[in-house]
Amino acid sequence: MCGIIGINGATEVCFDLLSGLKRLEYRGYDSAGIVTLYNGSFSRQRAQGKLVNLERKLKECPVPGNVGIGHTRWATHGAPTELNAHPHQGKHVALVHNGIIENHAELRANLKDVPFESETDSEVIVHLLDAYLDKGCDWGEAIHALLQDLKGAYALAILFKEWPDVLVGVCSGSPLVVGYGTEERLFLASDVVAFAPSCAEATYLEEGDWVELNKGQVTIHPKKALSTVTRPRVPISRDQECITKEGYQHFMLKEIMEQPTVLDRALKMYRTQDCQITKKYDWKQISSLSIIACGTSFYAGCVAKYWFEKIGRLPVSVDIASEFRYRDPTLLPGSCALFISQSGETADTIAALRFVKQKGIPCIGLVNVPESSIAREADSILQTQAGIEVGVASTKAFIAQLAILSALVVEIASLRGTIPHEEKASLQQDLMAISGLVTETLKLSIPLQTLAPRFGQSKTALYLGRGSLYPIALEGALKLKEISYIHAEGYAAGELKHGPIALIDDKMLIIVLAPYNDLFEKILSNVQEVLARKGQVVFFTDTHGMRALGQLESQITVYILPAVSPFLVPIVYTIPMQLLAYYVATFKGADIDQPRNLAKSVTVE
Ligand code: M6R
Repeated sequence: MCGIIGINGATEVCFDLLSGLKRLEYRGYDSAGIVTLYNGSFSRQRAQGKLVNLERKLKECPVPGNVGIGHTRWATHGAPTELNAHPHQGKHVALVHNGIIENHAELRANLKDVPFESETDSEVIVHLLDAYLDKGCDWGEAIHALLQDLKGAYALAILFKEWPDVLVGVCSGSPLVVGYGTEERLFLASDVVAFAPSCAEATYLEEGDWVELNKGQVTIHPKKALSTVTRPRVPISRDQECITKEGYQHFMLKEIMEQPTVLDRALKMYRTQDCQITKKYDWKQISSLSIIACGTSFYAGCVAKYWFEKIGRLPVSVDIASEFRYRDPTLLPGSCALFISQSGETADTIAALRFVKQKGIPCIGLVNVPESSIAREADSILQTQAGIEVGVASTKAFIAQLAILSALVVEIASLRGTIPHEEKASLQQDLMAISGLVTETLKLSIPLQTLAPRFGQSKTALYLGRGSLYPIALEGALKLKEISYIHAEGYAAGELKHGPIALIDDKMLIIVLAPYNDLFEKILSNVQEVLARKGQVVFFTDTHGMRALGQLESQITVYILPAVSPFLVPIVYTIPMQLLAYYVATFKGADIDQPRNLAKSVTVE
């Protein structure tokens, strides 16, 4: 989940590499570096920590040359130090790597007498290539030999001292894309966003491809072969260019605030794309649906399970991708699989998709990045159209996932004959009103700020919800953990007395999601259980729920949300969870958009 960029052209590349890295910083930010090739020697600058540290060094001492590669790292093997930062370089080559070389220990052991400079798995590739070149291979033969050695997932960008016109890319299990700039300037990156302002067109490399960028010429070779292949050049969407905070202090707040627009756009988009999905499969005959995802996208899948089962009477299993792929799951004929991912590049979700596809089960992808690996590999695709999400904590992409999933559920339920026409119309009407309710809910932004100090001083919090709000309790807890580093757990409220109640004392904050519905009385009993143990309750409900609280109101902190149909409560109740996490993290002075140890896109397993 590191970011890679390479540029080969007729003009200096140093600061363009840096700009590309800035656009890739969402992929990792614990160290960064660039190397260029000039007059037969490499010039390298690396720095620990965020890109600003590298930028400072480059301003003092820029690296010369018209060809170069850069990297922003999320550490896997070896601490985030300057020595472990990429690019790594040897006698003949310099390279950057995204992914994991699984057999690095074995390869390292075979490279006797080679002085290793870092603890990374990546450096082994440098020394392997050097060894092949020392034996007399040319660069192409060395790459071809290397590819037979490596096991694992990798995207590489490589420079060869003896071939100064050549920039090589290799992609196996990690994406790589070629960009065509002006005046024959060529780019290579792990995400098109890195070079979008400079290129009108791109070529997405396919699994196993390796590519040579040389004086305006792009030559692509298929997996482990010396033959060549042609891959299409596609236009780059202009959306990829605009990444600004639009006056907000953080991307996360901007992304939270734009959710009404995101909802409208997602639902509009759904109306144009639903036909593919709903007409492509015979939903009456589909026996079950497997939903597979990670993190916040997994929680969107958990909400969808409640919806599909209640409204569409379709049995659904929801799996965390990293568990699914190794548990030898049973996939019944007649079933269908849905992969949810904002980035479309999450390594475990992609691996699960490939596994299911191999079994002949139809695979649907629900993604936010239309050019992503999942979008390209799934049999059919639904787009969330949330726009680029920069904040590492996912907000608007989650809301857009819920919007698309809710619209899909209504359509599928109608096709399966589990809801009458009038109910379909009424659910669709609820959907049309949802962005207005979210706008209203966003007004909680101001009152919720006053809660921040209470949370900011706390070490732990419990989030409780029932039914389709249970996954929102999980999502609320994840948001708080990710950006404020406060320990938080989400629980199905009914589970409280099966263990977590032991944690409750007068310091424990308990967030309760409780719209007034058929489960309200049950959740109120849970609140009583908490209060009896002196826990501090923060209660999110609607005006009806507020009235039903009676005397209890004086013992808890209540926030009132707009009344919403039971179907769509997860969308509305997500909003205060996001705002709360944001304001608590701001109060603590945390790095909101780039929280410690995280990266936006988890492209290693
Ligand atoms: O891009 P994806 O939706 O596949 O990413 C999955 C998770 O890595 C992601 O949702 C992660 O949990 C977020 N940081 C949550 O805010």
